[in-house]
Amino acid sequence: MGLSVLAINGSLTPPPSRTRSLIDVTLAGATAHDPAVKTAVLELREFDLEFCDGRRPDQYNADTRKALAMIAEADAYLVATPVYRASYTGALKNLFDLVPNDPDRNDPLRGKVVGLLASGGSDHHYLLLEHQLRPLFGFFGAHSASRAVYAAPADFDGAKQPEGKIVAELHALGKEVVQLTQLIRQAGGMQPEHLRIRRT
Ligand SMILES: Cc1cc2nc3c(=O)[nH]c(=O)nc-3n(C[C@H](O)[C@H](O)[C@H](O)COP(=O)(O)O)c2cc1C
Repeated sequence: MGLSVLAINGSLTPPPSRTRSLIDVTLAGATAHDPAVKTAVLELREFDLEFCDGRRPDQYNADTRKALAMIAEADAYLVATPVYRASYTGALKNLFDLVPNDPDRNDPLRGKVVGLLASGGSDHHYLLLEHQLRPLFGFFGAHSASRAVYAAPADFDGAKQPEGKIVAELHALGKEVVQLTQLIRQAGGMQPEHLRIRRT
């Protein structure tokens, strides 16, 4: 059965976006490893996403529901963000506030693989991948690939395309996300226990 990778771009920057170019090179690594992989990019700036306020997912506007449906349908993910204020963007935070994690009905990320990417204006904040993004996907019961790629301005050319050794790292991440997804499928799935959160 075919496999789909959805890349989620946490940057709202219109093209050219450094974060988007990291996504494109990583997806190229995924399809180079397995040409049958289907890829798509969720560009948050193209969606009229509502702010999360605790409603049920089906009570949000059409764009919000469409974004959530894209996430639910994908087999694996890349999640990419620019560093904003030493963290991932508010747009990305809002999206993942909207993603449900209801153990009995709707828990779309559980057991799926996520590849993590970030671009920053300096080297200072590369650990946001390890200390902020990785725990977020641990919360959702997703498997984050052990390789996570951070890019600083020196990793891009004048057209904001990745250049130098980071290109191989991005390709390797794309391959790793596909390989891990295939291995988990062969094993019949690997779904971590759900954290039961008491909701009032
Ligand atoms: C509001 C804002 C906050 C930022 N904060 C940081 C930061 O804390 N650390 C950092 O290294 N870069 C920071 N940057 C720089 C961006 O992370 C960097 O330019 C990134 O590569 C932009 O990606 P994009 O082209 O996809 O927008 C910030 C940029 C903006 C616009």
